[in-house]
Amino acid sequence: MDALDTLKAKYLTAVANVGDEAGLEDLRVAALGKKGEISALMSGLGKMEPDQRRAAGAMLNVLKDEIDAALRAKKAALGDATLNERLRSEWLDVTLPGRPRRVGTIHPVSQVMEELTAIFADMGFAVAEGPQVESDWYNFDALNIPPEHPARQEHDTFFMNRAEGDNRPPHVLRTHTSPVQIRAMAAQGAPIRVIAPGRVYRMDMDQTHTPMFHQVEGLAIDRNISMANLKWVLEEFCRAFFEVPSVELRFRASHFPFTEPSAEVDIRCSWEGGQLKIGQGDKWMEILGSGMVHPKVLSAAGVNPDEWQGFAFGMGIDRIAMLKYGIPDLRAFFESDLRWLRHYGFAALNMPDLAGGLSA
Ligand code: DAH
Repeated sequence: MDALDTLKAKYLTAVANVGDEAGLEDLRVAALGKKGEISALMSGLGKMEPDQRRAAGAMLNVLKDEIDAALRAKKAALGDATLNERLRSEWLDVTLPGRPRRVGTIHPVSQVMEELTAIFADMGFAVAEGPQVESDWYNFDALNIPPEHPARQEHDTFFMNRAEGDNRPPHVLRTHTSPVQIRAMAAQGAPIRVIAPGRVYRMDMDQTHTPMFHQVEGLAIDRNISMANLKWVLEEFCRAFFEVPSVELRFRASHFPFTEPSAEVDIRCSWEGGQLKIGQGDKWMEILGSGMVHPKVLSAAGVNPDEWQGFAFGMGIDRIAMLKYGIPDLRAFFESDLRWLRHYGFAALNMPDLAGGLSA
């Protein structure tokens, strides 16, 4: 049957040459579809003599199977090719570095506030807040700094304007976080354990001073709190904050109107090759002021000094941030220079906690 050989050659060549699945389907319909060439030959069998029909039928079935097999093999091959093409064009390089984060960074001051809040929270201190525009009574008088006290001049205070004809003493931009001691005790009474981190203002500007800076106030009042408790709390804080195994603190007698006795606290450190190391060396650096809260301050806040006593301290946040993270110039903190922020900033969403590592 030459005709069948010709038909077979025609379809096998066409199947070999077809390039896509739609073309292949056309070929299947043309050969094996209801009106296809092979089907037409099959229906012609009915008119044949029985012997002829058996032989021709068998050959037609073989041809049909061969073409069918060729179509299926080609369909599988085209499927593989499609998949390979997708794999080639849609690949993903999992070794590429991740996309840089675009959510900005956490300012070192915010980072340090979170760190010290975590440390003091662990020692049972809550966070207290007060207004930045403060009355002179809270900022000075209640803290045992009467109107003619020289400390008022030392604070280089910013005064707010009063309306014309209003002769009350002007409000001030708070010069320290100490007024929050008064507000917290007045609101909560004793016993109390709080820290108050926040912004403070003084009219001063050079390499180590900016008109706005940050302090954290600490206050612990109970029935028999002593300087020993103060010393332990501060050592514990410094060790955790500077992330060193041990620190050494030096208490120097000093004077603040709101504490009696008062002490300034230095931390042992070394400056080798311009590199600051906390906890070792033969240098001392002042980091805070502290003391036992003055009875007049307790009274001003409505706490009975015959029943209650405790310690307070005040520390510069920007300064300890500079020390911990090796930041040389204070003024750069507040210049909003993106390059500085990217360099010294911290990853957003990494909340400092004692268990996970403060600055990890
Ligand atoms: N308020 C003081 C300042 O700004 C710092 C300070 C000293 C706060 C001693 C205190 C303290 O609570 O006990 O310089």
